[in-house]
Amino acid sequence: MRSIEWRDGDIVVIDQTVLPGRLEYRSLVNTEAVAEAIRTLRVRGAPALGIAGAMGVAQAAVHPPSSNAKTVLERAEQAGRLLAAARPTAVNLAWGIRRVLAKGRAIPLTAGAIRIAQGMVDEALAIQAEDEEACSAMAKLALEFFEPKAVVLTHCNTGFLCTGGIGTALGAIRHAHEAGLGIVVVATETRPLLQGARLTAWELAQLGIPHALVVDGAAPGLIARGEVSLVVVGADRIAANGDVANKVGTYSLALAASASGVPFVVVAPTSTVDPAVADGGKIPVEERAASEVTSILGTHSIAPAGTQAINPAFDVTPASLITAIVTERGVARAPFGPALRAMLGGPAVRAASRGARGKPKVKPRAKVAEKKPARSAKAAPKKTAAAKRARPKRVQPKRVQPKRAHGAKRTARPARGARRR
Ligand code: MRU
Repeated sequence: MRSIEWRDGDIVVIDQTVLPGRLEYRSLVNTEAVAEAIRTLRVRGAPALGIAGAMGVAQAAVHPPSSNAKTVLERAEQAGRLLAAARPTAVNLAWGIRRVLAKGRAIPLTAGAIRIAQGMVDEALAIQAEDEEACSAMAKLALEFFEPKAVVLTHCNTGFLCTGGIGTALGAIRHAHEAGLGIVVVATETRPLLQGARLTAWELAQLGIPHALVVDGAAPGLIARGEVSLVVVGADRIAANGDVANKVGTYSLALAASASGVPFVVVAPTSTVDPAVADGGKIPVEERAASEVTSILGTHSIAPAGTQAINPAFDVTPASLITAIVTERGVARAPFGPALRAMLGGPAVRAASRGARGKPKVKPRAKVAEKKPARSAKAAPKKTAAAKRARPKRVQPKRVQPKRAHGAKRTARPARGARRR
C-alpha cells in the first residue's frame, strides 16, 4: 500500500512513529486526527504533508454529509486553517490545502454540496497522483548525478513513506540502484527523531540497497575524508532564490560537501518551491519540544531533569552551497532564481518536462454522494584555498560499507554531469 490512502472518506496512513518496530496503519477519521498525525509525525515529509492536508480538507467537506453547499465550503475552510497550523515549515502542507479549497470555491454553489465535495476529493487524489509521477520523473532526472559504485550520503527520510510515490532523494537513490549502478548509501541517523535510522534504514533494507548508518556528527567528517561521492537530500521549502529548508543537519552536510568539492543535490517537487518567499531567511523554521532532544523518542531520558534544549526541526542551506535542485520539471542550477521561476512558469516548461507523458494519471474517482456518513540566484562563491586543498580522496569503503555492499572502491569525484563549484 501507499503510505497514505483515501479510503471511502477515511485517510489511512502508515504510522511512522512506530516504525521500524511495527508496521501499523492508522485510520484518521476527522480533522483533529489528521492534525494530530501531522503534529506527531505519524505522517511526515513535505510531499506527504501536502497530500495529508489536501485529503484532510476534502474529508471535512465530506464528513458529515451535508446538502448545503455553503456549509461544506465553510467546514473545509475551517479544517484548512487547523491543518495549516499543524506544522509551519514544509510549504507543501499549505499548498495542498490551498489547492483543494480553491477547487471547491471554483465550483458554483448552485452545483450543489455533493459536486463541491466531490471536486475537492478529486483534487486531493490528483495531488497524490501528481506527486507519484513527480517522484518517478525526478528519479530519472537525478540519475545524471550518480556514478557507478557511488557512495551516496542522504539525510532524514525522503522515501515512499513521505511522498505519493517512490520518494524524492530516496526515490532517486532507488532508481540509481535499480539501474544497476551498484551504489552504496550512507544514511544519517537524523537526530532527534531518528528518521534516518528508523525509516530510511527500513526502506533501504526493504529495497535491498546496501547501506550503512552514521551518526549525524560523523557525516561531515566522512565527506571531508573523501568517503562520500554524492550528497542527496530532499527539501521542505525552497525559497525563490534557491535557498533550501530541510531537516536540521542538512546545512552542515552542504558545508562539508562544498568544502570538499562533493556534489550536493536537492531532489524535491515543484510543490516544495515557494515563490512567495524571497530567500531562506524568511522561511519559518519549526521549533519542536525540548523533550525530543533530552530523550530518545520521548521514552528514555538522556539529560538531567530540567535541562533546557533548543530544537529547531529544520535548517536553511544557502543556494550557493547547492550543486543542483532536481524537480519533476527539470534540473535547476545556479543562478537558481530564474531556473526555478521558469520551472514554476508557463505551460511550455510544464509540457517540456512532462514530455510525452501528458497529464498525470488520476486515480478513479472516490464517490462522495453514496458513501457512508461519516539565497540569491547569483553564481556560487569561489572555493577557498582550504576547500581546493580538500579535494576528494579515495573512498575507503571499509569504513562505510555494510556487509552486503560490494565494490565501493572508487575515487569519490563528482558524478557525471555534476557541476564543480
Ligand atoms: O520533520 P520531518 O520528518 O517531516 O522532516 C522531513 C524532511 O526534512 C525531509 O527531508 C523533507 O520533507 C523531504 S521529504 C521527501
